Amino acid sequence: MKRIYMDNAATSFPKAPKVSESIINFIENIGGNVGRGTHFSSYTAGSVVYETRELLCKLFKFDEPMNVIFTMNITQSLNMILKGFLKEGDHVLISSMEHNAVLRPLYSLLEKGITFDILPCDDKGYLDPQIIKKYIKSNTKLLVITHASNVSGTIQNVKEIGKICKENNIDFVLDSAQTAGILDINFYDLNLSALAFTGHKGLLGPQGIGGFLVTSEFAKKIKPLIEGGTGSFSESYTQPEILPDKFESGTLNIPGIFGLNAALKFILDTGLDKIRNKEKQLTQKFIKEIKKIQNIELVGPDESYDRMAVISLDFKNIDNSEAAFILDNQYGIMTRVGLHCSPLAHKTLGTFPKGTVRFSFGYFTSEEDIEYAIQCIEKISKL
Ligand SMILES: Cc1ncc(COP(=O)(O)O)c(C=O)c1O
Repeated sequence: MKRIYMDNAATSFPKAPKVSESIINFIENIGGNVGRGTHFSSYTAGSVVYETRELLCKLFKFDEPMNVIFTMNITQSLNMILKGFLKEGDHVLISSMEHNAVLRPLYSLLEKGITFDILPCDDKGYLDPQIIKKYIKSNTKLLVITHASNVSGTIQNVKEIGKICKENNIDFVLDSAQTAGILDINFYDLNLSALAFTGHKGLLGPQGIGGFLVTSEFAKKIKPLIEGGTGSFSESYTQPEILPDKFESGTLNIPGIFGLNAALKFILDTGLDKIRNKEKQLTQKFIKEIKKIQNIELVGPDESYDRMAVISLDFKNIDNSEAAFILDNQYGIMTRVGLHCSPLAHKTLGTFPKGTVRFSFGYFTSEEDIEYAIQCIEKISKL
């Protein structure tokens, strides 16, 4: 049976060419730790890590490579920002499309006297930026939003949101999990204080590497969650204030950074336009055909909207988990069923608690894959 991967919103597959080669090269030929040795291996590893910071700056149109912080993933980045920045009495705004990576840390911060409001989005997942103004309080310090939904592919008007944050002196943090490596993101145009990313989705790198880009001003206001060895200022008993050391205690995931380095070069060489257009075409083709099939409901925006290649379907004739099981077991099509770590988004879209079957395409998905998936969905819709 052929196998077709349609779960790129969970993690992309395949990865960019040369990702595995780059990781193997580090493990077999380099192997040094960064900032912890005065020898060839350490310098070589260090120069690739620095180059990766520069590549991320290029991708996100950001000027300060030393303000690119590496973490394990975007969940860790968001936790570091939320828990390091917020203080008792602070108020936060999020949208009703957020992932648990934002929601759960904020729920746990309630016990520290930090409160938040959930900005309502419409039934396609869109936030009207003007609504934000009604929710701003004198103690509103931060707004966190997911650039695009991992359930419905809905893209938020982040330019307008950033403008409102700036006008109201609110720090703005972007969850780019579903858009980095696909949409053109300009850090300064969006008035961001921090941009959190994960390396293994649209950035086409390996799992276990992520991070955030942060302005120096905002970084000063964040306390590090983890302290320890940085390879610098070893005489000091306290954590250094300089970046990236302030937030990078302990040995980095250097093999992961080598993999991400190759993936970023692939994305920059290919061009975001080409990647985005391919994904758009696949999405339009898929949704147009889906709309013709009875018993299947598309959840979220249709192909007439500017949306991501993350598409949720609700099977009306059969349980969604059964549909996902048949897709995988009988037809070799890998999707993800359920609530996708985003119960709030499903409540907004009207699919809580049953969830949906999510199809998510990537740059390496082909038109034939889409045609095959449509045929299989049609067969299941007639069961
Ligand atoms: C919008 C969004 N935010 C956060 C995450 C968490 O990503 P990671 O598991 O890489 O930390 C995901 C992944 O599903 C996501 O889609």
